[in-house]
Amino acid sequence: MNAKVTVIDHPLIQHKLTLMRQTETSTAKFRNLLKEIGMLLAYEVTRDLPLKYEQIKTPVAPMLAPMLAADKKMVIVSIMRAGQGILDGILELIPSARVGHIGLYRDPLTHVAVEYYFKVPSDIEQRDVLVVDPMLATGNSAVAAIDRIKEVSPMSIKFLCLLAAPEGISHFQLEHPDVPIYTAAIDEKLDEHGYIIPGLGDAGDRLYGTQ
Ligand code: URA
Repeated sequence: MNAKVTVIDHPLIQHKLTLMRQTETSTAKFRNLLKEIGMLLAYEVTRDLPLKYEQIKTPVAPMLAPMLAADKKMVIVSIMRAGQGILDGILELIPSARVGHIGLYRDPLTHVAVEYYFKVPSDIEQRDVLVVDPMLATGNSAVAAIDRIKEVSPMSIKFLCLLAAPEGISHFQLEHPDVPIYTAAIDEKLDEHGYIIPGLGDAGDRLYGTQ
């Protein structure tokens, strides 16, 4: 059975996503919106983090208080380059998270995702991983990234994006039925160039002003 696809459709996220989609939104605004949405998405994706209870003292009384249980902080793996936009938001909320990067490019002839960079914490086997990329379009890079991350055997893997196409979700679930997907919206379809429709254009270009 396929892992769950969760659409995080909080009104604040939907509003900010609409602003991001608009052609006239500037690079600076786009970047800031992606960071803000990254923060809001992280809030939801980390809902099931385990807690432990510690004895503390408030100025008024002692209490048994909840704290995050994980000894090993989670790892956020950004699929370069657009993943950086979501990553920045998540790190605002979880500053102690560890960070990994994976760089992939699409071979122009074969259209296969080719790895050019991979760096993750050496003790990733004892950590939970959240892989981030704003756009789940064909699913090729997400699938290749998860293939690679599975080689280093983290404790668990989740995938977080901003926008997903139905084609990308089907492809991802076929290859990685055990990895849950979190997204802010599922759009209509892909065009013949692999762009999400209606989408928001090229997320990396809009993030860095390279269009
Ligand atoms: N990557 C993007 O940045 N945008 C799309 O629409 C599809 C893939």
